[in-house]
Amino acid sequence: MDKNEFPAARILGIETSCDETAAAVVEDGRNVLSNVVASQAEMHSKYGGVFPEVASREHIRTIYPVVQEALQQAQLTIDDIDAIAVTRGPGLAGSLVVGLNMAKGLALSSGKPLIGVNHVEAHLYSAWIKSSTQEDNNSKPQFPLLALIVSGGHSELVLMEDHLKYKRLGGTLDDAAGEAFDKVARLLGLGYPGGPMIQAVAEAGNPEAFKFPRAWLEGTWNFSFSGLKTSVLNTVRNIRESQGLDPNDERAILPVADLAASFQAAVVDVLVTKARYAAQEFNAVEMLVAGGVSANKALRDMVLKDLPAKVHIPPLKYCTDNAAMVAVAGYFRYSLGHTSDLAMDALPNWPLAE
Ligand code: KG4
Ligand code: ZN
Repeated sequence: MDKNEFPAARILGIETSCDETAAAVVEDGRNVLSNVVASQAEMHSKYGGVFPEVASREHIRTIYPVVQEALQQAQLTIDDIDAIAVTRGPGLAGSLVVGLNMAKGLALSSGKPLIGVNHVEAHLYSAWIKSSTQEDNNSKPQFPLLALIVSGGHSELVLMEDHLKYKRLGGTLDDAAGEAFDKVARLLGLGYPGGPMIQAVAEAGNPEAFKFPRAWLEGTWNFSFSGLKTSVLNTVRNIRESQGLDPNDERAILPVADLAASFQAAVVDVLVTKARYAAQEFNAVEMLVAGGVSANKALRDMVLKDLPAKVHIPPLKYCTDNAAMVAVAGYFRYSLGHTSDLAMDALPNWPLAE
């Protein structure tokens, strides 16, 4: 098939890899007909992170109504759908199986093809979604494409030379970028998820107030954020001691806005600088930034200002976990004949590969 002439198709996407129960219908790999996300974030906030057992049970409770709602909003029934795409991994095993079983049940009863999608691949494909508001950046990404995927579970630099062809250049050696945001937010007494909280308080802060370290890991395309996190922790402990308190005493008055802004600046600096070098090194025609952390305003601002190639960055609602991106990735898999077997199981540690 000529890859420029993909078929007309409507894909139902299902996503339950972490703490969002989501379903969406996408037409022709770009046009979102519906996008339903039931977030459990509030439920997990009292634990300061995702509680896997709670996540799995909540998915079981909400998956059917969420899928029904996605079909209803698209004004379609399952008979109007060409294929069912579902996140197979990576993610929490007990969460993944809920979406997988829903997708299998639908595929079995309707006779429609089933497509297992990699969650990181789905984040990549969120950049193909046509936005109704960003008219100027609505062209389809062009290959070779340098992608930076930054979420709660992943920080990856990926070279995409064609559809479904991924060359992983590097990734985090320890904490993912979003994980670092979540951990530092907890340290500063902010809530979960930490990214949006850090961004909000950082607005009133000075990004140069604290000189936090940048782990460049030169000669590799890897990232490391645990040293930065430790540096924020040590700074907080020193501030407490300077106030005559125990280093762990949470009553200290912290310059939270400056700490958050300086931490955020360090993360964004490393991510954007390494992405820029990688794009040059691999002669990328265009770039793509996606995943939950790509919702970050400081990152979005620096990306649009500093990167050498045309950059695709999804609208905010498609940065964090959703099923529209799963449907888009599923569309390209379906179009290129990559359907899955009904016996497909969950792959909690599934790496992104060709
Ligand atoms: O992609 P996502 O929804 O889930 C994963 O696949 O992990 O990403 C969630 C992560 C969380 O760590 C959250 O703190 C982070 O994305 N995040 C942000 C922002 N919004 C979400 N990080 C920084 N700034 C934001 N505005
Ligand atoms: Zn994600």
